[in-house]
Amino acid sequence: MIKAKYIDIFQNLETPFYFYDLELLRHTLQTVKEESSKYGYVVHYAIKANASDAILDTIAEYGMGADCVSGNEVARAIEKGINKEKVAFAGVGKTDKEIKTALENEIFSFNCESIPEIEVINEIAGKMGKVAPIAIRINPDVDPQTHEYITTGLKDNKFGINHWDFDEVGRVLKSLPNIRLTGIHFHVGSQITDISVFEQLSLKVNKIHEWFEQNGFHLEHINVGGGLGINYDSPKEEPVSDFKAYFKAFNDNLELKEGQQLHFELGRSLVAQCGHLISKVLYVKQGLETKFLILDAGMTELIRPALYKANHDITNLTSAASPVKYDVVGPICESSDTFGKGILLPESKRGDLIAMHSAGAYGESMASTYNMRDLVKSYSSDQLDQM
Ligand code: LLP
Repeated sequence: MIKAKYIDIFQNLETPFYFYDLELLRHTLQTVKEESSKYGYVVHYAIKANASDAILDTIAEYGMGADCVSGNEVARAIEKGINKEKVAFAGVGKTDKEIKTALENEIFSFNCESIPEIEVINEIAGKMGKVAPIAIRINPDVDPQTHEYITTGLKDNKFGINHWDFDEVGRVLKSLPNIRLTGIHFHVGSQITDISVFEQLSLKVNKIHEWFEQNGFHLEHINVGGGLGINYDSPKEEPVSDFKAYFKAFNDNLELKEGQQLHFELGRSLVAQCGHLISKVLYVKQGLETKFLILDAGMTELIRPALYKANHDITNLTSAASPVKYDVVGPICESSDTFGKGILLPESKRGDLIAMHSAGAYGESMASTYNMRDLVKSYSSDQLDQM
């Protein structure tokens, strides 16, 4: 999965670090481009998944838009060459400063999550002599069948506006002069591996869309968010998610009116599989019943196992000895700083290189300096090819 020529170079780099395989990223982006353009769909990259230089530069090369959830993400997307007319700005708690940044940059759309937020955007836009293009984020009450922490589209989640508020939203939209309703937005959750969830979402969208039409709102676009999952258990066997089936599910079920655009905000499925967290074994320690493989990477570099009990495939890049069971742990002072329990790996020793795969999404972007650790570097395959 990681080419031998890169593993040779890894031996001379300070660990831990992230490694991004841009060949796989380009292949993934090309697949997305081909499958989405069959239907004329517009794809935004959800920057929160990974905002490192190599990743954003590559995404920008493919002409994708951006889905941002902070003023800094909006600024970063534009600085990286993403067309501001393809920048959407979502989030339940946009600050006045962030709203101003987005208005100054004349972005594509504010995805609004509450009535008070719409009123504040109207007020700020008015003071700046602008009209803000907004999409209403709607909570469609669709169960994404994923981890509760990354479920966003159920009626008791904090995200979006619920159907019982539609009449009020309609009145507010008609009364405010400095906003213009351009679309509706949805995002029901992340790491969704059951395509039927997107079929259900499409059917809900049709009903909600109808309400807007009947109430005199013609929508220029519908944004169905992101959420397509990846294969964490067998990344080697399935390095690219099934984008064909994903876009087809929308094409078969979601009804667009003449001239309307369908937008997507994909994060994980674009960048997860191209990223690996590379670390070294510090110590092998015999516990009561288990052997601990203690790495120099921890939850500070990849928090997903600690936060969501997520599984990341782990391999030893430098040993081919007979397999032994290990609890693979980091150095942080938390018991949850564990990458996996009872993991079969070739017998490992101090200095061996260990890779945590599928770490391109929500790895580096969720890194912290807990325990006063340094933020670590990332290298792209293009960079290593120059070495
Ligand atoms: N659009 C909105 C409004 C979102 O909130 C998200 C992700 C996305 C798009 C992109 O979703 P994706 O295609 O990546 O599933 N840290 C968690 C994931 C949090 C997702 C937050 N929202 C994890 O590591 O699993």
